[in-house]
Amino acid sequence: MTPLHGHEPYDAIVLGAGAAGLFCAATAGQRGKRVLLLDHAEQPGKKILISGGGRCNFTNVDTAPDRYLSSNAHFAKSALSRYRPADFIEMVEAYGIAWHEKTLGQLFCDGSARQIVAMLLEECAKGDVELVCGEALGEIGHADGLYRVDFGERSARAKALVIATGGPSIPKMGATGFAYDLARKFGLKVVQPRPALVPLTLPGEEALFRDLSGVSTEVIARAGRAAFREAALFTHRGLSGPSILQISSYWKRGDTVTTQFLPDRGEGWLRDLKRERPRTTLRKVLSEGLPERLADVLCEKLGLTGELGAMTDKALAAAEARLARWPFLPDGSEGFAKAEVTAGGIDTAGLSSKTMEAGKVPGLFAIGEAVDVTGWLGGYNFQWAWASARAAGLAI
Ligand code: FDA
Repeated sequence: MTPLHGHEPYDAIVLGAGAAGLFCAATAGQRGKRVLLLDHAEQPGKKILISGGGRCNFTNVDTAPDRYLSSNAHFAKSALSRYRPADFIEMVEAYGIAWHEKTLGQLFCDGSARQIVAMLLEECAKGDVELVCGEALGEIGHADGLYRVDFGERSARAKALVIATGGPSIPKMGATGFAYDLARKFGLKVVQPRPALVPLTLPGEEALFRDLSGVSTEVIARAGRAAFREAALFTHRGLSGPSILQISSYWKRGDTVTTQFLPDRGEGWLRDLKRERPRTTLRKVLSEGLPERLADVLCEKLGLTGELGAMTDKALAAAEARLARWPFLPDGSEGFAKAEVTAGGIDTAGLSSKTMEAGKVPGLFAIGEAVDVTGWLGGYNFQWAWASARAAGLAI
């Protein structure tokens, strides 16, 4: 192995040039630290490039700690409070990147996610960060107060090592569980990683719904105590759309997911309609607020045909209750191949919430998706990447 820069150690080696790694390296570099940033992919920030449909939903103005899942609900508070969406927006604006709010506080580039990657690379350049892409990482060790990382045919040493290699979601893009192996090697615990923000699959018995592939409607999706009001989309394998992706992060195998169809209808709405329009049918009523094909399937499942006037109030109340909590029992999810993020990860119990440094392994940091902090859909995961990266970048 040829040592990089002779034998002079770096202040930090950052592993992973994704959202968190780029921003951490830039932050530390601009504080005068010598930083080496390594990634096995040929180009940095690949997930940023595909994010938000190519426009990168780079933050969410409603960021708050309760929009994150973690074994320790308090862990994200410190970093999130010290680097806020407004701070990132300030940098985006300083680079002249035009943006807009799409919905629910989600901010996107008007142009392209490439602008965000270019901005982060420019920030790294300002901090004289040395970026090496396309080299596989080899042995990683710690001796005499220095971390040593072999990569390609070379080797480098540093006082600090930052794990920013993300989670295993979308492995075909080069995502790996490398962060967990490395964390375990240094004695850190890992909370069982699982796919999150992922479509759910339905068993064969639900073929009628799977035949609705492509149909979408606004619902309130619920699992346990979590509830999200957004669109649900039927797919040939089951359920997707923003409300389902959100609820998937809370869903566990064996749990029922319910969807509330026509969420604006108040209690007794079918009974009231029966009085007002007794000659109308349930199918007609449902198709006034839902796609026709979905209305057909719901009527068939409810087993109610004919005019409302011919139905008992009890039957209508039962139909209303079912429509308000329509139960689906997913048999799984589409897995890491389709998951937008990974829930679980490096256990926060071993990390400082202020600096992201491992309490028992001085100089070792973990940031971004690799850590057991997972945001809702809608820019929250990037905000965590920026905030945790900033916390570590200031502490190195
Ligand atoms: P990230 O995955 O970005 O970076 C990790 C880096 O480590 C990568 O560059 C990878 O190549 C490298 N690496 C991995 N293993 C390695 C190894 N063994 N050796 C060397 N390098 C290695 N979030 C959001 O807030 N808004 C959005 O719009 C979207 N959209 C979106 C779309 C899609 C399709 C996906 C899959 C994900 C999103 N996300 C998102 C989630 C967001 O992309 C994610 O949370 C962040 O990229 C996490 O940043 P990190 O830097 O932690 O990991």
